[in-house]
Amino acid sequence: MTDHGSATPRYLDPQAGIGTRIDDLLSRMSVEEKVGQLMQLDAQHDLEHKVLDIHVGSILHASPQNLVEAAELVQRTRLGIPLIVGEDCIHGYSFWPGATIFPTQLTMAASWNPDLLERSARITAVEASATGVHWTFSPVLCIARDLRWGRVDETFGEDPLLIGTLAAAMVRGYQGEGLDDPTSILATAKHFAAYSETQGGRDASEADISHRKMRSWFLPPFERVAKAGCSTFMLGYQSTDGIPITLNRWLLNDVLRGEWGYQGMLVTDWDNVGRMVWEQNIQPDYKHAAAAAIKAGNDMIMSTPGFYEGALDAFEEGMIEETDLDAPVGRILRLKFALGLFENPRIPDQTRIAGDIGTPEHTELNLEAARASLVLLSNDGTLPLLPTHTTSPAPRTIALVGPLADDPNNQLGDWAGGSGQVGWIHEEPRETVTTVLDGLRNEIPQDWDVRYAKGADILTLESDPAGAYFPDGQPRPPVQQACSPDPAMLDEAVSASEAADVTIAVVGDVIELVGEGRSTATLELFGAQNALLEAVSESCKRRGKPFIIVLMASKPLILPSCAEDAAAVIWAGNPGMQGGRALAELLLGKIEPKGRLPISFARHSGQQPTYYNQIRGQHGLRYADLTQEPAYCFGQGLSYSTVEYQTATLDVLGSDGEIDPSRSLDDVHADDTLRARVTLHNTGDRQSLETVQLYIHDVVTSVSWANKELKGFTQVLVHPGEHATSTIDLSVADCTLVDAEERRVVENGDFEVLIGSSSKDSDCQTLKFTVN
Ligand code: NOJ
Repeated sequence: MTDHGSATPRYLDPQAGIGTRIDDLLSRMSVEEKVGQLMQLDAQHDLEHKVLDIHVGSILHASPQNLVEAAELVQRTRLGIPLIVGEDCIHGYSFWPGATIFPTQLTMAASWNPDLLERSARITAVEASATGVHWTFSPVLCIARDLRWGRVDETFGEDPLLIGTLAAAMVRGYQGEGLDDPTSILATAKHFAAYSETQGGRDASEADISHRKMRSWFLPPFERVAKAGCSTFMLGYQSTDGIPITLNRWLLNDVLRGEWGYQGMLVTDWDNVGRMVWEQNIQPDYKHAAAAAIKAGNDMIMSTPGFYEGALDAFEEGMIEETDLDAPVGRILRLKFALGLFENPRIPDQTRIAGDIGTPEHTELNLEAARASLVLLSNDGTLPLLPTHTTSPAPRTIALVGPLADDPNNQLGDWAGGSGQVGWIHEEPRETVTTVLDGLRNEIPQDWDVRYAKGADILTLESDPAGAYFPDGQPRPPVQQACSPDPAMLDEAVSASEAADVTIAVVGDVIELVGEGRSTATLELFGAQNALLEAVSESCKRRGKPFIIVLMASKPLILPSCAEDAAAVIWAGNPGMQGGRALAELLLGKIEPKGRLPISFARHSGQQPTYYNQIRGQHGLRYADLTQEPAYCFGQGLSYSTVEYQTATLDVLGSDGEIDPSRSLDDVHADDTLRARVTLHNTGDRQSLETVQLYIHDVVTSVSWANKELKGFTQVLVHPGEHATSTIDLSVADCTLVDAEERRVVENGDFEVLIGSSSKDSDCQTLKFTVN
């Protein structure tokens, strides 16, 4: 029995167990306070009303001032329940001026380096927690398959194993040593599940997908982080089989909470509950929508102000009981107690803000992340620009052209100062970003020269005739108008190129073409960029001078045919604050190219899908007018050296974890582990970090299945002239498929192991084993 008369309530006693504290607090809360506790609202407007009148449990998008104000308002509430402050710290806490902004998630996925991702997430946690943020809505575990989707940049790309590995690393980084550490923040696995499987790439459209397909590819990364302790899951906007995820009991209760035993907190995406009323028209009003969301097992309702009245009306009319509120409120309170917010509400800490944000160490790691993520897609030997063996190279003039060569905001990409999700920051402090122009000017030898000309504009914006706002008050993105080529700008770029020994064009996309509600119908370079590439490549060709393309694009885009004449192509993604320096170092050869594509590039927007792990079985293997081969495939990326993969071996391990020579590959069992080994020989004159990839091809399957799936990878540094051996252990238990009854099983029969430098067959060697 709770003793409400005692001087210090049990819920405020840190010595009491969390269960006891939750029970005590629940027994003191009114129905109104419980309904409010389930709500997370935007802190930028009417904060006092939200905290004092409707008792919200959480806020998001709190400006530095809002964070201070919110903490003061909590003091004035009856029970003093601390708020959880959530924010989109997606690649750094990008809405805090001067905080460290890393390359975007897709860009960093090109590093194939979980340790790097973990360390960058740790830095984000340290910086965000100093400001009073307790919870980030990151990482994104969606599989990117339709390149037109505007949120491809937020993903780790197209492969479930890579996604799960990198996501688990980020979760570890955010949550650190434990939630009671004041530098830890809650991670969010989002957007549960299959949000990316939209139609035509259109954001948040119906994602019709079978349970079997979910279990095959879309759920495994989520299962991995659920079991690894990711504290919260965010539900996608989309509907599947007619049911919005918010109401999908199979996914939320049977799979997530049932099969996986997930104990964490579920948060809806922005106004998922309201959208059922005003967008999807599947609930008549907020009362029904609120009751349905509670009954389906949601905990925190993001940005649905009408939920408050709706849930109270539902309670009044007996559609929900008070006990229906206790389970979700209990899960929210459990996290607040686990974070220790009742003892230390983790309000903005001015000392830590001054000392922990944007530090030189954080900038150094940011630079390391950018350096590891750049992908060299082609190179005829023009790169690196500084010769490998000469200490005093001849002076050279570089022409740097293109609208992304000196554009600090667009270099950072979405979820950064300029991307428009919050009202208090519109761009990052200029000195915190190194553009390519800045980087080259800083890094070239003293007697070299850089001449810059923008050369092309990309777009102008016009108001959407449908109105400035969506019905939920969210701003409606403006309509993008492509800029036409400007003869004067083109002339300036060609003149710069004509005066130079080498021309570098930095082209790509801008924030207006990236993000939520900003999917693109095409994948070509927008505006006058193709005209710029054509003019410059033509001029270089005429003069026999090299021309290099840096694609600073949030996602795979399609280059015009003149790019075939380019001496080198680099995909830089959105490389973060230090991206310009890393690119300059790479172009010059002060660092080696290390990145490998986490996603395939199409040749044409109509050629999709291009992901490597497609289900086999179709009539023919090409379009009548185009190959189905992607322009650049998953796993691909060059170094400045040449590395030979010698003959690979495959063996069965014994119970001691060593190779057992008596075991045959013709008789392998589901509980065996195999060891693949390949020795690499660096035949060039520069070191190379090789990402050795192991794929499985299950030869005959009881159901249609992916032709090839990544099952392991490892990175090995090979010095010039030297050999290094890469070893990858493969658990046969991981060589599964999901059968017609939705069971994940290893089927008997023949398998092929493909080991090599990319997902392309021609880059791999094939070894065989048979499961009995
Ligand atoms: C909507 C986005 O889909 C989600 O990813 C984000 O975390 C929330 N808005 C909060 O900003």
